[in-house]
Amino acid sequence: MPNMESVARFFSVVPDAMILVDSLGNIVLANENTYELFRYKMGDLGGEPVANLLPERYRASHGKHLEGYFHAPSVRGMGKGMELSAVRRDGSEFHVEISLSPFRSGEDLFALAAIRDISERKRLEDARRESQRQKEIAEERAQAAQALADRNEALRAIFEASPIGIITAAQDGTITQWNRAAERIYGISSEEAMGTSIWELNRAMETENDSAAVIHAEVSRGQELRDFQIRQRRKDRKTVEISLNSAPFHDPLGGNTGFVFLVDDISERKTIEQQLRQSQKMEAVGQLTGGIAHDFNNLLSIVICNLELLQERLPAHSEDRELADLALDAGLHGADLVKQLLAFSRKQNLDPQKIKLNELVLNMTNLLARSLGEQIEIVLEMASGVWPAVADPVQLQTALVNLATNARDAMAEGGKLVIQTGNAALDEAYAQQFADLTPGDYVMVAVTDTGTGMSAETIERAFDPFFTTKPAGEGTGLGLSMVFGFVKQSGGHVRIYSEEGHGTTVRLYLPRATHEPSKPTPIRALEHKHEASRARILIVEDNMDLAKSAHRVLSEAGYDVTVTTNAGTALEMLRSPTAFDVLFTDIILTHGTNGIELAQEAAKLKPGIKILFSSGFSEAALRASGKAAVAGHFIAKPYRKGDLVSRIGSVIEGRR
Ligand SMILES: Nc1ncnc2c1ncn2[C@@H]1O[C@H](COP(=O)(O)OP(=O)(O)OP(=O)(O)O)[C@@H](O)[C@H]1O
Ligand SMILES: [Mg+2]
Repeated sequence: MPNMESVARFFSVVPDAMILVDSLGNIVLANENTYELFRYKMGDLGGEPVANLLPERYRASHGKHLEGYFHAPSVRGMGKGMELSAVRRDGSEFHVEISLSPFRSGEDLFALAAIRDISERKRLEDARRESQRQKEIAEERAQAAQALADRNEALRAIFEASPIGIITAAQDGTITQWNRAAERIYGISSEEAMGTSIWELNRAMETENDSAAVIHAEVSRGQELRDFQIRQRRKDRKTVEISLNSAPFHDPLGGNTGFVFLVDDISERKTIEQQLRQSQKMEAVGQLTGGIAHDFNNLLSIVICNLELLQERLPAHSEDRELADLALDAGLHGADLVKQLLAFSRKQNLDPQKIKLNELVLNMTNLLARSLGEQIEIVLEMASGVWPAVADPVQLQTALVNLATNARDAMAEGGKLVIQTGNAALDEAYAQQFADLTPGDYVMVAVTDTGTGMSAETIERAFDPFFTTKPAGEGTGLGLSMVFGFVKQSGGHVRIYSEEGHGTTVRLYLPRATHEPSKPTPIRALEHKHEASRARILIVEDNMDLAKSAHRVLSEAGYDVTVTTNAGTALEMLRSPTAFDVLFTDIILTHGTNGIELAQEAAKLKPGIKILFSSGFSEAALRASGKAAVAGHFIAKPYRKGDLVSRIGSVIEGRR
């Protein structure tokens, strides 16, 4: 049985703090380690309640634990659910691990407690746990940052790849972002733009009054802009049409932190819209002019035919003859104007041929030099290897003369007229810029002058018939209209480039010849009355006066002529036994049957009958409208007496 002395000796050699407690909970013996651990003066713990070594808050429940232990004493090893807090003499707490074992001495039962300070271990554990936690937090942060970076990367890619200019600005207008599309649209690099003020930039780019101020006011008020269309001037002075959208952005508290601007360059769309409007206008004006010109044609035909008849009846050099001559001159001049109108409305009679453009221009130079005068120098810049073109050479010459005349008028003080030729392969991309252009191979001829140039408004209206800026009596405003109509009717394309004070270039694009166009059958001019005639001609013309003139002309030419203004009557006559050699009919007849139907009927009733059609519209225009499906000869109104006679002659000759 161990006595207290041997316990004390054992206490002095163990490395742990050890206490022997009696069943009342008082310390019987404590070793030196214990005094050291709890910082008591040697001897002070003897007889003290062991509960004093516990923090205040555990003392009450400690008594019960102690009682329980002495009731059923057992050995409890270190670190078995016995982690406790202890308190030093100075009141500071620390973590301990306690193991207990019952100790009997004689009749008395004690509890032997070994106490180990585990503060350091705890601290290390906590530190390890904390560092683990920090590591986890850092990892989470890194992941979040990566996700954010990925998202930013995607946003940046969208920002830069966007075809729409994206600009962000702070509340005060300072530009904070400027993407590549914005660089392209405005010609301003992101480096230049960043940090400058969007309001000032808008003001610098302004072309219309107050547009910058309007944007500033609206946007600052927190308004969104939707498709706000403005014209702005780029840094390189070029103007761009812009559609602007903007929206404010907010901080999480709802305050305005800045704006985003979306900038779309709609210049191309605008030009195409403008061109479409222009070509629709030309189409409408063309229809109108075509109609008027057609009526005038009839009237002028009558006037000219009758004046020619009258002229022949009047003695040469007489005063009356002179009056008739004057009237005929005026009539012919009128016919020229009507011809230009028909040209504009694309209804003139064209005789397209394969032409060598350079040759055609060279052949005209003497004529041009004469009409331009000595003040104007003519320069020819003709490309070699120019493709053959298809166009009516006579009309092309007229067009070039019209352009040269305009150039002369624009260079009152003299200057230079340059005629250029060349090939132009207009591709899809180029053609797309224009509302009315088919891509393909064209032959180009350009007439450039160093004259006054034209304002934008003048360019816009230059092709309009009767648009002129020249004083009354000097210009009719039909020159460019003719050029326009002729080129369009020829399947080509015409553009004006002009700058006020610098000069003008008008460029004609004519279709490239791909194959030999079929030559119209040559007509033998018959100046004289057809000797072997007395052929019988049926004239169908719903304009009574014109019918009468034709009647007179053809009777004088020695034909037997029957006239009617009505298709019904004409059919009756064709059904009668009377033999007709030629049916000369207008194509468009006011009532009932038209000229084509009449001709078809005539061919059945009188096989072998020759047909001569006439119309104010060109053959091509009629063919296009499906009105020239029947084989027959054709004479365009207004026709001159000689033309009609020779035409009838060749029609009849064709039979014989
Ligand atoms: N080369 C040019 N330089 C400057 N302005 C031009 C030129 N060509 C045409 N214009 C302008 O376009 C207008 C219309 O031209 P257009 O040839 O159709 O008629 P015009 O010359 O006035 O009369 P017309 O040709 O019938 O005698 C002219 O009045 C002029 O203002
Ligand atoms: Mg002119």
